[in-house]
Formats: sequence, C-alpha cells, structure tokens
Amino acid sequence: MSAILPYQPTLQSLRSGFNAKGWLNEDVPTFLVQNDCQRAAAHCASVARAAYQLAERFGADPLAAEAGGWLHDVSVIWPNDQRLAAAEALGIEILPEERKAPMILHQKLSVVLAREIFDVRDAAVLSAVGCHTTLKAGASSLDKVVFIADKLAWDEPYDAPWHPDLRAALETSLDEGCRVYLRYLWEQRDALAVFHPWTAEACREMGVIV
Ligand SMILES: [Fe+2]
Ligand SMILES: [Fe+2]
Repeated sequence: MSAILPYQPTLQSLRSGFNAKGWLNEDVPTFLVQNDCQRAAAHCASVARAAYQLAERFGADPLAAEAGGWLHDVSVIWPNDQRLAAAEALGIEILPEERKAPMILHQKLSVVLAREIFDVRDAAVLSAVGCHTTLKAGASSLDKVVFIADKLAWDEPYDAPWHPDLRAALETSLDEGCRVYLRYLWEQRDALAVFHPWTAEACREMGVIV
C-alpha cells in the first residue's frame, strides 16, 4: 500500500473553512478569493458566461453549462506541486501521463471539490468539469461546450493562436470547433509535456487523427 502523502490545503480544512450557500456565482468567487486565487475567480466567471452562451447556441443546457464553467478550475487552489499528492490522498485514478504532468490533474481535482465543497451531484456537470482540459471520447454536448468555453475565455488582451479558426469553425458547428482545438493540440504534441490519452481518443473519434 502506498503511503498517503501530505498535501495542503486538505479537503477537511477546505470544508471546515467554507460554507457554500448554494449559489455558484457567489460561492465559487468567495471560495477562490478566500484561497488567494482572485485571478481564477475572474477566469471562472468568463468561462461560465461563455459556456452559457455556447449552450444556448448549440442546444445544451445553459444552466448546467454555466455551473460547469464556474466549477471547472476551482482546484487551482492546489498549486501544481501539490496536485499529485492531493489526487493520491483523494483516491483519484492517476494516469501515467498525469503523473508526469500533474497540472492536468486539476480537471479531476475540480470534480472532487465540486462534489465535496459545492455539493454538486449533477453527473453531466461533473463530467464536463472532469474533461474540460482534455476532452474525451464519447463527450456530450455539455462536455464540448465547457471545453470550448474554456478555450474561448482568454484573459489576455490579444487572441490566442487558435482563436480566429475556432471562432470561424463555431459558425459551422460545435464539433467543428472542437476539431480546431484538438487539431491545434495534435500539431503541438511534440512541444507539450504530455499528450493526454483522453485527448488522443477524442482526436481519433472526431477524425482529427486518422
Ligand atoms: Fe482548467
Ligand atoms: Fe480554465
């Protein structure tokens, strides 16, 4: 049995230091600010807004999409060097690629916080939070909406390299938008710390890798 490594803050300390009121648009910013993550609070607000709009446009549930946007990055309260230890202590299944690049674990850690701190039980929302960085095979429209909202909500004054093509592709469909970003990741794969297997599976399923 592997030893449970110490990690900070613990789920228990987060739970005892925070009381969710039941409104994510208030609870998430309060939680993030309380944990010194002001910037993430602004980012989550942008993703929630973008996700709501994309869901309306592409026939997903706007309120579920908004919830996914609020929650997707709440685990940013664990710095990169704490993510592996936190995931191990919380019993999260860790893939070899995630062990190598623990940053990616934040999508799975956010699912735990969504459930345990914010009391979210909607499996569709938790699914979208849990694949917002990598996407996955068999993704729902809601998964895709939150994935794309995160890529559109960019907190810099200039466009990200994928933005013009992504916006143009979304004029066609949500899937076409996903393909643009997946293709971008695939083309960058040698420069990435790891190429996540869920992304590879999504790429194959959507015809980005043949
Ligand atoms: Fe993220
Ligand atoms: Fe994000």
